[in-house]
Amino acid sequence: MALLTIRTLPDPILRQKAKKVTKVDDSTQKLIDDMIDTMHAANGVGIAANQVGVLLRIVIIEIPEEDQIRVLINPEIIKREGERIVEEGCLSIPGYRGELVRSMKVRARATDRHGKQVRIKAEGLLAQALEHETDHINGILYIDHLENSGQLWKIEYQTSETSQDAK
Ligand code: NI
Repeated sequence: MALLTIRTLPDPILRQKAKKVTKVDDSTQKLIDDMIDTMHAANGVGIAANQVGVLLRIVIIEIPEEDQIRVLINPEIIKREGERIVEEGCLSIPGYRGELVRSMKVRARATDRHGKQVRIKAEGLLAQALEHETDHINGILYIDHLENSGQLWKIEYQTSETSQDAK
């Protein structure tokens, strides 16, 4: 187990587009394990490779109610439906939360760590996490979706990312 340092703003790596993964080798598997450990230690619902300083299109999502860790390599959102207002935070923007519009439902595809194609139909927190994490690997942060600065607020303190939609 190894914990990686979570990059926070204004680290420029958070603004870079990550590269497609073409080969999943031992070092990729180790990175995935370390990302999972790091996400757990931070009590996050998801984490993207940019956030630990690696420009590869890998994201991890673990929805508390689901009891499964989703390892998504080269994830793509292929369909979005509807709109809803959500509250969101990010491990890379500690101490803040914001309110923004996300999709009601999304469909995504990716490859898992064993090279198997996966397709996901999601709503609720999983849909939100899929949009948040695929944004990360494109260098986009949730604060980019705020309509104005009034939709971002400081939170008193964080012992860790304790709220369920912290990513
Ligand atoms: Ni995030």
